[in-house]
Amino acid sequence: MDFNPLSPEVTANPYPYYTELRNKAPVIWLEPFQCWALSRYADVDFALRNPQIFSSSVFTAEALGDLNPVPEVPWIVDMNPPDHTRLRKLANKGFAPRLIRTLEPRVQAIIQELIEPIRGQSEIDLVATFSGPLPTIVIAEMLGVEPERRDDFKVWSDDVIRATGRPTDEAERDQIRRSEAELRTYFEQMIERRRTEPGEDVITALVQAEEERDMLSSKEILALAVLLLLAGNETTTNLIGNAVLTLLNHPDELAKVRADPALLPALVEEVLRYDSPVQVIFRRTAQEVELEGGKIPAEQNVFLLLGSANRDERRFPEPDRFDIARNPQGHIAFGYGIHYCLGAPLARLEGRNALEALLFDCLPFSCATERVEQIASLIVRGPQTLPLRFDTAGA
Ligand code: HEM
Repeated sequence: MDFNPLSPEVTANPYPYYTELRNKAPVIWLEPFQCWALSRYADVDFALRNPQIFSSSVFTAEALGDLNPVPEVPWIVDMNPPDHTRLRKLANKGFAPRLIRTLEPRVQAIIQELIEPIRGQSEIDLVATFSGPLPTIVIAEMLGVEPERRDDFKVWSDDVIRATGRPTDEAERDQIRRSEAELRTYFEQMIERRRTEPGEDVITALVQAEEERDMLSSKEILALAVLLLLAGNETTTNLIGNAVLTLLNHPDELAKVRADPALLPALVEEVLRYDSPVQVIFRRTAQEVELEGGKIPAEQNVFLLLGSANRDERRFPEPDRFDIARNPQGHIAFGYGIHYCLGAPLARLEGRNALEALLFDCLPFSCATERVEQIASLIVRGPQTLPLRFDTAGA
């Protein structure tokens, strides 16, 4: 069978294709991508648990090509032990749960700032007005970006993310290079300042992170700060968008959450499983490997289809049913093992609070379009735009 993760049919709804893959070709060679794809939970899980066989490689660096804003050091997500182990131990200190918890009131305040102007309107695009800006503002806040530089930071951040699309237009590439240079200078100065004037932010935590007298270099901190933009923005936007869209398509489940806000954390977990914001991650085989679904030779690139693994009937009963009460423990929407998402606690916190505000502080809403266009991407899944109409009758 053929499988093209970038075809419009698959982008619109990949799940029937994944089911066919899991049943007919669980380990498949994708000629146009010169790459294998694993679709069963057991095989994807095995790959994540065995980084010595399924190593990480230069995928992020390649995605950015010559628009890589920090080419001097590798990206943490591309690294393998022991280098990854060292960097991750130090990076964890910037994301200590204590630090993330202290952010909650600020995240709630940012959500209210974004919700306020929405309240007066009858129709909005959720992505443009709310789920898009939210993670960028939160990351700016976490990194300690001064409020007066927020607008600059938004432009830099959008431009760095655009670099992953490998644009060919020279004017666009120049604009991205300019933004990257400004972002670099800004962070380099901030990192140096935090060494003598500590703040309450992630950059300070990273500057101070120390493990057995080992510390992060300024370049490593810079690369981590930029990766937070790449890894944390569109993913969190899509978690919120996918949640809203899925709820609108499942009115019974929506009614359950509206009746009981204590279900919000379970809602977030089930959305992560049911419509995973990151559908594909990349690995390379260090040796030949025999999986449940077949054999892969050494030195091969492999797509791990997280979105398919999370819908595997061998792991989750009735996987195509969206069921907030199911407890989808074991879903691998944030990966697993040594590269497990550094931002998972933050993404959960943002997702929960954003959905709470949308479901409980706004008027009931419906989808204002027949057909929601999905982002055309190999990696992420989420609505490009999500027009919502508020039920103003009687308001
Ligand atoms: C719903 C939102 C998110 C999803 C679904 C998600 C998903 C993932 C996945 C699947 C990985 C594993 C990559 C691999 O194994 O190759 C990962 C890694 C990572 N994520 Fe997230 N992510 C989200 C939000 C965030 C946020 C908010 C941040 C930071 C602000 C973040 C930072 C990172 C970093 C730094 C890594 C690399 C960790 C390492 O290599 O050790 N992510 N994420």
